Amino acid sequence: MVAAKIAPSMLSSDFSNLASEAERMIRCGADWLHMDIMDYCTFIFIFCRHFVPNLTIGAPVIESLRKHTKAYLDCHLMVTNPMDYVEPFGKAGASGFTFHVEASKDNWQELVQRIKLKGMRPGVALKPGTPIEDVYPLVDGENPVEMVLVMTVEPGFGGQKFMPEMMEKVRALREKYPSLDIEVDGGLGPSTIGVAASAGANCIVAGSSVFGASEPAQVISLMRKSVEEA
Ligand code: DX5
Ligand code: ZN
Repeated sequence: MVAAKIAPSMLSSDFSNLASEAERMIRCGADWLHMDIMDYCTFIFIFCRHFVPNLTIGAPVIESLRKHTKAYLDCHLMVTNPMDYVEPFGKAGASGFTFHVEASKDNWQELVQRIKLKGMRPGVALKPGTPIEDVYPLVDGENPVEMVLVMTVEPGFGGQKFMPEMMEKVRALREKYPSLDIEVDGGLGPSTIGVAASAGANCIVAGSSVFGASEPAQVISLMRKSVEEA
């Protein structure tokens, strides 16, 4: 049995009060804080060097948040050159460093090594259009990633609709790797947690459903229960 990790996505928090929002989430029962790092693009992917059409936070924000919390900072890097971020994120106090397989086809081995050297936990993420087979070598390798993040929306924004067809990827992963941390990200909340948990996801990212709730603690505990009972 893999432990449930509920990770509110700080992308939906009040960025002007990040430290108190983080503290509030931990008080509400969050295990991790999910930090979305995006490198912005105004055009579609093939015409530019960036990864997503949104710009969020970088290492300086992680560094200043780290001064206010001991929480596990689950950093999800939606960036074109994750290698450039390893050193600054390590220094800033990131806990997990999850890069995209689409952005690291040629250098993931070195990337994983460097992430570990910096004392962070390596994870790999994949976009909805990427086949699950693409991440197998990263889990099977000599120096494996410790988490796979299955995107259940197109990366870029909070508040999008959950893609249930991604559960096939989660099921395939869980069957192959019974003790792997499998994270789902995008559109998770009380109405979608059931399918995600029964497919085998144990790390649950949730932004708008948690921050938009009048009782975030109830949403967090409901999601934890779903994972534990699956
Ligand atoms: C999307 C981000 C998500 C996002 C999830 O690119 O990776 O972490 O914040 O937000 P919700 O839960 O609102 O879909
Ligand atoms: Zn994310």
